[in-house]
Amino acid sequence: MSDVDAAWAALHAAAERARVRRIASLFDREPDRLAKLTVDAAGLTLDLSKQPWSLGDLAEALDLARASGLEAARERLFAGETMNASENRAVLHMALRAPEGAGFKAQGQPVSAEVDEVLGRMRTFAEAVRSGARRGATGQPFRAILHIGIGGSDFGPRLVWEALRPLDPQIELRFAANVDPAEIQQALVGLDPAETLVVVVSKTFTTQETMTNAETARTWLRDALGPQGDSHLVAVSTALDLTRAFGVADDQVFGFWDWVGGRYSVWSAVGLSCLIALGPQAFDAFRAGGAAMDAHFRETPLESNAPVLLALAHVFNRNGLGRAVRSVVPYAQRLRLLPNFLQQLEMESNGKRVTFDGKPVKHATAVAVFGDAGSNVQHAFFQMLHQGTDVIPLDIVAVAQGSEGDPAAQKKLLANAIAQAEALMVGRTEEDVRAELFAKGVPAAEIETLAPQRTFPGDRPSSFILMDRLSPGTLGALVALYEHKTFVEGVLWGINSFDQWGVELGKTLASRVLGELTGGQSGAHDPSTAALIARLRG
Ligand code: F6P
Repeated sequence: MSDVDAAWAALHAAAERARVRRIASLFDREPDRLAKLTVDAAGLTLDLSKQPWSLGDLAEALDLARASGLEAARERLFAGETMNASENRAVLHMALRAPEGAGFKAQGQPVSAEVDEVLGRMRTFAEAVRSGARRGATGQPFRAILHIGIGGSDFGPRLVWEALRPLDPQIELRFAANVDPAEIQQALVGLDPAETLVVVVSKTFTTQETMTNAETARTWLRDALGPQGDSHLVAVSTALDLTRAFGVADDQVFGFWDWVGGRYSVWSAVGLSCLIALGPQAFDAFRAGGAAMDAHFRETPLESNAPVLLALAHVFNRNGLGRAVRSVVPYAQRLRLLPNFLQQLEMESNGKRVTFDGKPVKHATAVAVFGDAGSNVQHAFFQMLHQGTDVIPLDIVAVAQGSEGDPAAQKKLLANAIAQAEALMVGRTEEDVRAELFAKGVPAAEIETLAPQRTFPGDRPSSFILMDRLSPGTLGALVALYEHKTFVEGVLWGINSFDQWGVELGKTLASRVLGELTGGQSGAHDPSTAALIARLRG
């Protein structure tokens, strides 16, 4: 048996032992549990002590990480080696948030100077728009941006804007991603074309949804401003020939590189709309938060490394205990889009069934991620988290110092976050419930049926991520924490976390079906698909 296989076997054996004990019991047995399973990194505190592993199990998980070559893989990542082999690309989003002059190389080629150059142009452009030095076709200053993009060209900027937007922004930022025209129609409501910049973000500049929305927006601009409307178009793309053909002036095109994966791209020019609307300082602080997490991830030993520990806790649940779903609940309304962002980050990165070299994986990979803002979701799916038949591990993200609104309401929010994690782990025994019902004078027959329904099994794991405050810096650290956690999992599973071949087939078939829906010749389909096309063709 290889070292890696032996380490996996040890992890599975550890998980079997974990099945027959309760998480809460580990605090008595392991006096240093809380200290060992709490780490601080870049303004975040991560408490993994409510996870089902013992400290001995953690040691097995760390052995697995070492045996899987995590430390060497981490070095290869930062060295700009070809981590995305199926597309022959380096993976270097860390270069986008590094301090000026950092000296990163992608596949041996220096990249940091180009990164600094584009960032410098983004800052200059943003400052000109914000100060009113750069104005629209009719001489009016820009008061709104319509950001058009989808997937990695949308989720990150949307998350950042929602998390950090001022209550009354100088420049309003709207988003349109879906090819469903309802979204862009809604986004345009109340916007004045004379005061609106349209930022089209697409790595490839061919994505159907984005180009459809971009055409709608260009028509909207031209209808109001004539051909001068095109001067309100800005593009963010790696395909400079296509942006030019679309009518975007070259000095309003901001490039990025093939070593920036879509779901890792918010740090690049993909974040331009946020940079303009939030200001360069906030965007720099966001990048610096990501860079601080990079330094922590790169330099900290595995046993106190936040992304590594979070990944191992998730792997222990996923592979050791067979838990195929995880919930993420930010107790911060401003972070309500975090689960959406993580759905792409984790499931597009690690939803893979073959390894780097095309062999079937030996271990189950990505879990399904879902969630929304707490406390709202306590009134939705938390019933299932507490009493459902499946154990669904939970990541709770909370903010220690709220910066806006009623401080008493902030405390209530925090109390809910803490209490839910406690309730999930501790539960409530049937005995306890029976005693309470009995004390209230409930008849014995009723106690028989009621008590089991009011019992909480407990022993349901959670991770608690506490942000000092919700600032650009801690947000950057949080996003980078999950990026690196996703990478670590990919290394353990032996997969390429940076390609996404699984989205291609649907795209190809959609264009074929579109041809048929719009009068083209019918193709060969299964009876169900053929019937739908026949019904909807027009
Ligand atoms: O969903 C597939 C995908 O390729 C994502 O990886 C990417 O973020 C998204 O489409 C958008 O792609 P583009 O930026 O090229 O428009």
